[in-house]
Amino acid sequence: MPAVTTPVQRMLRPTRAEISLGAVRNNLKKLSAAASPARLLFVVKANAYGHGSVELARLAEREGLCWGFGVSSVEEGLALREGGVKSPVLVLGSLYPFESFVAAIEAGLMVTVASPDAARLVIDAARQAGRKAVCHMKLETGMGRIGARRPSLLRIYDELSASPDVEVAGMYTHLSSADSDPAYTREQLGYFSETVRDLEARGAKGLTFHAEATCGLLNYPEGRWNMARSGIAAYGLYEGFEPALSWKTKIVFLKDVREGACVSYNQSFKADRPMTIATIPVGYADGYIRRFSNKAEVLIGGRRCRVLGNVTMDMTMVDVTAVKGAAVGSEAVLLGRQGGEEVTAQQLADIAGTITYEIVTQISARVPRVYVG
Ligand SMILES: Cc1ncc(COP(=O)(O)O)c(C=O)c1O
Repeated sequence: MPAVTTPVQRMLRPTRAEISLGAVRNNLKKLSAAASPARLLFVVKANAYGHGSVELARLAEREGLCWGFGVSSVEEGLALREGGVKSPVLVLGSLYPFESFVAAIEAGLMVTVASPDAARLVIDAARQAGRKAVCHMKLETGMGRIGARRPSLLRIYDELSASPDVEVAGMYTHLSSADSDPAYTREQLGYFSETVRDLEARGAKGLTFHAEATCGLLNYPEGRWNMARSGIAAYGLYEGFEPALSWKTKIVFLKDVREGACVSYNQSFKADRPMTIATIPVGYADGYIRRFSNKAEVLIGGRRCRVLGNVTMDMTMVDVTAVKGAAVGSEAVLLGRQGGEEVTAQQLADIAGTITYEIVTQISARVPRVYVG
């Protein structure tokens, strides 16, 4: 099937991020099966972790691969609506200022209410928007980011549920340590579960309760409730899932150098033998960060080729001495597979001392996203 791009993107520079729709489809099917009978909220914040939120949300909606979408801000939710996405969208961030509630409600986005002040604002905003506000209350169970502790959350519930302009649709929390601390995670889930019980004792009915993101969903069945949210596994950056994004470019310049030749700013690499060096048109302004300097590897001709010297803003040099037939125009894979080799997001994250989430979300807007399959 031919690759498609959004119409405004002219692709003269060969650098691109190729996103496999097939991989996202398979990953979402697996996640839905793991969550079932609970529903799946596909987290597409930060432009779907750099993969393109509108395109992926359209795919998931068209093929019924999830119940709805999670975004971090009203702007991200509006981008989905402008892209024609009709499914439920929950804004996971804490909204400020007041006008953002009005804009969210007008666009039919569900909002998070994480404090008593936000509860009052959302009631006023719903009146102003002339449309019911659909809210999910956020419980603080130990993440220490946004959310109300139980007594405050119960007051929020009382206030919201007394308003004819508001529908209290759900309550959720976020686990901070599902990948590292089972005891702490169980404490968080326990606090959540007791709060569900208190809400039900107050007469709350039909609410959507959700505590888990990918790691919780796949490892703590006891915290399932009736919805789970997932981002990272949908993009294949979790064990057992298929990575969806490949980052590719082509060699634009090639040279043979003598021993002692210097490469990049501050002579950050010096050839210790005669070498063949390729320049590729990708740099830190594309999200190929300077931490990769002299460390990361790029696949060319099916071989791992080391980055030489400092990554510059728009270009990076790599060692192709051992690659037979390397030429201007040869494909270079920064992230993904070529032949039998693979550069993974985890390998790049290890070099940079970070997590895979940061590697993919920092691939900049300058890199066109191309959808295949
Ligand atoms: C509130 C919330 N829910 C869900 C997610 C998705 O997490 P994951 O990508 O680990 O599935 C995030 C991600 O940061 C989040 O902040």
